[in-house]
Amino acid sequence: VEVPVQLRVNGQTVLLQLAPWVTLLDLLREQLLLTGSKKGCDQGQCGACTVLVDGVRMNSCLLLAVSLDGRDITTVEGLAALAGADACGPNALHPLQQAFIDCDALQCGYCTPGQLCSAAGLLNEHPPAHAHEIRERMSGNICRCGAYPQIVEAVSRVAL
Ligand code: FES
Repeated sequence: VEVPVQLRVNGQTVLLQLAPWVTLLDLLREQLLLTGSKKGCDQGQCGACTVLVDGVRMNSCLLLAVSLDGRDITTVEGLAALAGADACGPNALHPLQQAFIDCDALQCGYCTPGQLCSAAGLLNEHPPAHAHEIRERMSGNICRCGAYPQIVEAVSRVAL
């Protein structure tokens, strides 16, 4: 039995009929073709699938899409638009994305969409006071390349 669900995804309303077991991550990647969000572990361990739900960072692999009726989802594809009018157009970047480029805050890039969404969620929470606090609060996002110093530097440039 499929369930009707209405979501707002990166500013667009989408109406769907979904099986109750479809995760938000699989919906984004396989049905909406928003493949920026990555599947690392599919168990809530790695953070590669992090998106914003009503501005709060969450692991999309742990969320059933049918439980999100009426919610507002932002993926890495919609991050630049969150930054406002300065960031319009297909090549626009969120300040965090620019900082990741400037700081060389990635190697393979697989974790990067999740790192960016997690950092955006961090900015929506209370502001961090120190770089080590950013490291702690980004600890749900694993980087197998070990680019942590550059990731913390990039987030620090925007957050501190
Ligand atoms: Fe969701 Fe790893 S894929 S936390």
